[in-house]
Amino acid sequence: MRPPTEFDPPPSPWIERYAALIRAGGRVLDLAAGGGRHTRLLLARGYSVVAADRDTTALRSAITDDAACRTVALDLENGEAWRLGGGYDGIVVTNYLYRPVFADLVAALAPAGVLLYETFMLGNERFGKPSNPDFLLRPNELIEAFMPHLTVVAFEQGIVSRPRPAAIQRLVAIKGGIIAVD
Ligand SMILES: C[S@@+](CC[C@H](N)C(=O)[O-])C[C@H]1O[C@@H](n2cnc3c(N)ncnc32)[C@H](O)[C@@H]1O
Repeated sequence: MRPPTEFDPPPSPWIERYAALIRAGGRVLDLAAGGGRHTRLLLARGYSVVAADRDTTALRSAITDDAACRTVALDLENGEAWRLGGGYDGIVVTNYLYRPVFADLVAALAPAGVLLYETFMLGNERFGKPSNPDFLLRPNELIEAFMPHLTVVAFEQGIVSRPRPAAIQRLVAIKGGIIAVD
């Protein structure tokens, strides 16, 4: 992993805060990982990471595949069955929405595994992209989608000012019963 530079986008404060709930030393999936800002955070915290994206060019320039990190190039929206396996202690999804994988995310979590999700919601169109409603969560959508299957630890929705104004929704949920959250 190369050292961070001032040009690397910072991790989401939501992921920084709640990644602490993932079992120490566990295995985490960073789905639609982009340039790997959360992959880098997770690796630095001692997790092993599977970083998956349709385009792994940016990932591969920042991260070297080794025992702790595997990058996977795949199209999540090509209609094929889920190819990323399961037993993850954590799954991170940020700034990506493809509703058909929601059930796969639940299935891919290990017992006590933690789902950390943050992406844009309706209302974001007034701030810029994404503005296509297909890529914007409806009010309460994350909590309605995952609450029947996971134990919700935290949920927020609204407008944030940083890193730029945006309408977002974010969720943390555990597979199984309640756990220590402090
Ligand atoms: C806005 S970026 C978010 C990247 C990262 N999660 C973050 O928050 O920094 C969205 C990512 O989704 C990936 N993506 C879009 N469509 C995809 C698909 N069909 N299959 C896999 N990845 C896809 C893009 O390549 C891009 O890296």
